[in-house]
Amino acid sequence: MIRLEPLTGRHDRKGFDCGAHALNAWLQRTALQHQRKGISRTFVAVPNDAHSVAEYRCGGYQGVSASSILGFYALASAFVLVEDMPAEVARRYPRQIPVTRLGRLATRVDLQGQGLGRLLLADALNRARGAAHAVGSACIFVDAKDEAASRFYQGFGFRPCSAQPLKLYLPMW
Ligand SMILES: CC(C)(COP(=O)(O)OP(=O)(O)OC[C@H]1O[C@@H](n2cnc3c(N)ncnc32)[C@H](O)[C@@H]1OP(=O)(O)O)[C@@H](O)C(=O)NCCC(=O)NCCS
Repeated sequence: MIRLEPLTGRHDRKGFDCGAHALNAWLQRTALQHQRKGISRTFVAVPNDAHSVAEYRCGGYQGVSASSILGFYALASAFVLVEDMPAEVARRYPRQIPVTRLGRLATRVDLQGQGLGRLLLADALNRARGAAHAVGSACIFVDAKDEAASRFYQGFGFRPCSAQPLKLYLPMW
């Protein structure tokens, strides 16, 4: 069992490895700073309790502890120019629109392929929708780091922007 909670200084950021150096480094060095300054919000998946930690260890995940980060994502507010979007979508909007940016999403390399990425993305979308109801946000945008990440997001309905195929969006309304 896992639970999702906001990143704090008590989480073991250094112990996290998703196989992508840039994402590991961002979590270790930047995420908390940005969180404290209100630039972005990072949410982490952690073992739910001591029993869950024991289960992970029994399952062969020896490095897992109560403060281990199993996966994370970050959300931020942003503005985009609609000309980046396909014409049939762009015509619904004024030239510049408020959006929610899913800055980063990653799961521990030894837990990949077990459904945690799907869970994190679902939580990110729910949270983004909640924020959109409160303050307005037309779409969720994400910058996929490569083609594989782009396919992952497209599997959940994200569509590539015309001019920048690694930039994807999902309308919220
Ligand atoms: C991309 C990533 C977050 C996926 O997390 P995960 O925990 O492995 O994903 P899940 O096990 O929840 O898989 C969910 C679905 O996405 C699919 N999927 C996962 N990785 C995929 C990939 N690289 N390409 C296409 N589909 C993928 C799975 O097959 C699954 O689909 P299914 O339910 O129809 O079988 C993870 O592999 C990761 O952290 N990679 C390194 C960092 C990264 O690339 N992050 C992307 C942000 S730019």
